[in-house]
Amino acid sequence: MEKSIKEILITEEQIRQKVEELADALNKEYAGKNPIFVGVLKGVVIFFADMVRKINTPCEIDFMCISSYGGTSSTGNVVVKKDLSVDIKGRHVVILEDIYDTGNSLDFVYKYLLGKEPASLKICTLLDKPERRKPGITLVPDYTGFVIPNEFVVGYGLDFNEHYRNLPYIGVLKPEVYQN
Ligand code: PRP
Repeated sequence: MEKSIKEILITEEQIRQKVEELADALNKEYAGKNPIFVGVLKGVVIFFADMVRKINTPCEIDFMCISSYGGTSSTGNVVVKKDLSVDIKGRHVVILEDIYDTGNSLDFVYKYLLGKEPASLKICTLLDKPERRKPGITLVPDYTGFVIPNEFVVGYGLDFNEHYRNLPYIGVLKPEVYQN
């Protein structure tokens, strides 16, 4: 195990099974609807790549990149750094996310995409950390992989200072790594 990891919270095998479960549910809901899967960069890339390879109905993919400004993400000020490259008006859209944490990102992306008048808009998040939710954010993901405790998690796309995204599992970072 990577030396900065205190414990493995979700193993590769548990992730693999969950991806299959989530993709099965999406395959049922979106069969024949030509959905567009939208990923919010960069944390989602690993989950996104695994998910769409389990989708067995014709679909499209696209990406957005957003960032928070004016301090920490808890300020809730979000800007679009990269917008979608396809028109989603009248289309069935599924937002894929790696983690629903304070909720600032998903809350912004959901409202932003809703403004583009899709036929439907749903959210599939691998992780949900409800203890961190900012008051007033009430969005409920349509599909959730794992509800996790309020621990600093990295791996499978999630980073600390841009590192650890490549770990194949989701691990809890040792506090000394981020407290220094
Ligand atoms: C992470 C993660 C989510 C967001 C969730 O992205 O990928 O998009 O934070 O947190 P929130 O619910 O508090 O908004 P981050 O902004 O760290 O960028 P990254 O995806 O490039 O790692």
